[in-house]
Amino acid sequence: MTRNEFNRLMLIAAAPAVLLFCGQSGFAQGGEAEITYAKNVAPIFQAKCQVCHQPNSVAPMSLLTYQDAIKEAKSIKAKVESRVMPPWHIDTSIGIQEFKNNRGLSDEEIATIVRWVDAGTPFGDRGDLPPRVEFPDPNRWQFAEEFGEPDLIIKSAPYTLPARTMDKWFRPVVETGITEPRWVRAIEIKPSYPDGRRIVHHSLAFLEQDEEGITGLASGATDAQQGPGLFMEWAVGKVGEIFPPDTGKLMLPGSKIHWEVHMHAVGEEIKDNQVELGIYFYPKDYVPKNRTVLRFLDASRHQNLDIPPGEIAVTQQMHVLPAPARLENFQPHMHMRGKAMSMEAIYPDGRQELLSHVNNFQWNWHVNYVYADQRRATAAKGNDPRDHRLARQHHGKSQQS
Ligand code: HEC
Repeated sequence: MTRNEFNRLMLIAAAPAVLLFCGQSGFAQGGEAEITYAKNVAPIFQAKCQVCHQPNSVAPMSLLTYQDAIKEAKSIKAKVESRVMPPWHIDTSIGIQEFKNNRGLSDEEIATIVRWVDAGTPFGDRGDLPPRVEFPDPNRWQFAEEFGEPDLIIKSAPYTLPARTMDKWFRPVVETGITEPRWVRAIEIKPSYPDGRRIVHHSLAFLEQDEEGITGLASGATDAQQGPGLFMEWAVGKVGEIFPPDTGKLMLPGSKIHWEVHMHAVGEEIKDNQVELGIYFYPKDYVPKNRTVLRFLDASRHQNLDIPPGEIAVTQQMHVLPAPARLENFQPHMHMRGKAMSMEAIYPDGRQELLSHVNNFQWNWHVNYVYADQRRATAAKGNDPRDHRLARQHHGKSQQS
């Protein structure tokens, strides 16, 4: 049963429960259950908003307390109703719906927040208030709890950003210093806190190393790779990646990290900003069965997209998988006018499956939709591009207004 079917069933199953509830007390004059901050809304904010909406984090305002929340009530309603906040912009009616990092709101959660704002943001009963959530210390490595401290820490060269300046892209190269091949099981990345967090918009870390072919992949896989692979990236809400068991990235002696740190001035000089990579290795003698590669499936056809006023322009591109593979995630990337992007698999037997569709793309959010284990798409190697077109990406329905 798909999740959608399951949800539909849940809705049917839930209806009698609502009726039952009507017989109980606890209703406001309108005959509807009163939605209060303490009972209904605070738990949603804790689970889906506070990780970003707290002091010294990326978001412009805190949502830790009732006082914080009511100041922003109107704006919260607008952003939540339009599914702009929390940043989770995937079409929930089609494609894979099971994710490891789902931070979206359900329809019921959206309805709860909207009704609460419409009712004048009642606080409710103090006794209903859930205990405060303790967030992990942003100066600590988040994966350390599972793996211990990182085996290797690599820092970008320090950079001082003036109080006022254009956006800067800083691209230092740093040696990894490793002396023998090592398989990586997890990578974390973090700007310094609190200062770095305020100015770093995103950071990329490319791994560069001399290598013929890619271990475990067909030799042709390197051709498509073109240049150093992306090792890890930091963007709002993404702290790194723990690879599935039996899967890793390979680092070789002599390897280097090419950084790209995009910074934005905040009206105050920020000295010696650095971004750090925390790398966790598999034990020395362990070789995972699969190798993970972050592949850029370009849909632009290397051309600028010309969008006539008031119209929609679409581009799409096919990519043949050079080796048998499992698709682990979908991370659409477009610029300002981008509206929607989807990824479809065309299997060797001609069957097509729309894997993911982001229909509410917000250009300042780079959300990585990470498929849950049971829903990863598996695809065989595409032997002949004419007959076995595997992963086709359908890029950017862009719209002028
Ligand atoms: C991954 C981090 C993240 C999460 C999770 C998140 N927000 Fe945000 N939010 C931001 C950032 C950053 C901004 C400012 C930039 C923007 O609007 O995209 C923002 C902006 C907003 C704004 C507009 C504020 C303004 O002054 O324009 C509202 C309202 C808001 N968020 C509410 C919420 C609510 C409610 C939730 C949870 C249901 C939530 N956000 C979850 C990061 C987040």
